[in-house]
Amino acid sequence: MEKPKFKTVQEVIASGEGLPERYLHTPTGDIESQPLDAPVPEMDIPAIDLILLLSPSDNGRQELSKLHSALSTWGVVQVMNHGMTEAFLEKIYELTKQFFALPTEEKQKYAREIGSIQGYGNDMILSDDQVLDWIDRLYLTTYPEDQRKLHFWPEIPAGFRETLHEYTMKQQVVIKQFFKGMARSLELDENCFLDMYGENAMMDTRFNLYPPCPRPDKVIGVKPHADGSAFTLLLPDKDVEGLQFLKDGKWYKAPIVPDTILINVGDQIEIMSNGIYKSPVHRVVTNREKERISVATFCVPGADQEIHPVEALVTETRPRLYKTVKKYVELYFEYYQQGRRPIEAALI
Ligand code: OGA
Ligand code: NI
Repeated sequence: MEKPKFKTVQEVIASGEGLPERYLHTPTGDIESQPLDAPVPEMDIPAIDLILLLSPSDNGRQELSKLHSALSTWGVVQVMNHGMTEAFLEKIYELTKQFFALPTEEKQKYAREIGSIQGYGNDMILSDDQVLDWIDRLYLTTYPEDQRKLHFWPEIPAGFRETLHEYTMKQQVVIKQFFKGMARSLELDENCFLDMYGENAMMDTRFNLYPPCPRPDKVIGVKPHADGSAFTLLLPDKDVEGLQFLKDGKWYKAPIVPDTILINVGDQIEIMSNGIYKSPVHRVVTNREKERISVATFCVPGADQEIHPVEALVTETRPRLYKTVKKYVELYFEYYQQGRRPIEAALI
C-alpha cells in the first residue's frame, strides 16, 4: 500500500526548519481573531455518577436531571463511577505517551495509507489551502473486532494492543449505560437510542499528541468542530489544559477532573434527541512548554442504521428539526471539507 508523504508535527520540530506557514492562522475579524491563547473562563459542568443514572431512587432521579441540564446546555459531562480504575486509565496515558516517544521509523510502520483514515499520521490534509492542526495522531477502529486493521496496532510499547482491547470492552459497558441514562433523562424508553444506534455500531479510538508549540497565539491543536459521532468518550490530559467548548459565542475551557471520562454529545445524538441535546463546537489550543495527550473514542451508529429524531420528542411545540440520515460520517467529511457545520445538512 502506498503511504502518503507528510511530516508529522514531531518531524517538523525535529527538522529545525522553523514553524511552517501552513500552521499559521491569520485573523479573520470574528471571535477567532483573538489570539488563540487568550485566557478563557472554565466551564461549569457536573460530574455524573454513571451507576446512579440507572437507579430508580430519588438520587437517581436527581442525577438524571443533572444530566439533562448539562446535555441540553453544554452538551458535555464528566462521568465517574465508570468501572475503570485509576491505574487502568494511567496505563492508557503511559502507553500513549510511550508510543509517540518512539523513533520515527518505528511509528512509520503504522503510517496511514492513502485513502485510509486509520493509522499513524498528521492532521488529514483535505485541501491545499488548509491551515494545518498542530497534532499527531494514531487512529484505530476498535469495534466490531472484525473491522480492526491490526497492522496499524502498535506492537511496541508492549501491552498496547491488549490494553486497547481491554479499554474497548470496558468502554462498551459505559456506552450502553450512557445511552440508557440519556434516554431515561428524556423520559423515553431506556433502549430507544440504543436501538437506533444498532447492533452493528462502530468504535474508533484516536490517540492524540499535541507537541509544545512555539506560537500558541497563532497555531491551533484542533480547529473548531463538532463531532460526527453519536457521542464521544474522551480522556483529556491529566495535567495540561487545552480543550475548549463554545457556548453562546464564547470559549470556555474544560476542567481537569481526575479519574473521570469526559463525554460530549455528537451530531447524531443531537439529531436523535431532536435538538434537545447539543453537539457542542469545541477546539484544542496549544501550549508553549508542555506536550498534551488525549484519547478520544467516537461511538458511531451502524452504517445501515437510519438516524432520525425519536418520535416521542417531536411535538407540536417542538417540531421535527432533522431529516433522517444514514452514513452520517460520510456526509460529515464532505461538509467539513467545505468549512461548514455538517449537521446543517441534516436540518429540515
Ligand atoms: C477530537 C477532539 C479533543 C482533545 O478528537 O474530536 O475534539 O482533547 N479532541 O484532544
Ligand atoms: Ni472533537
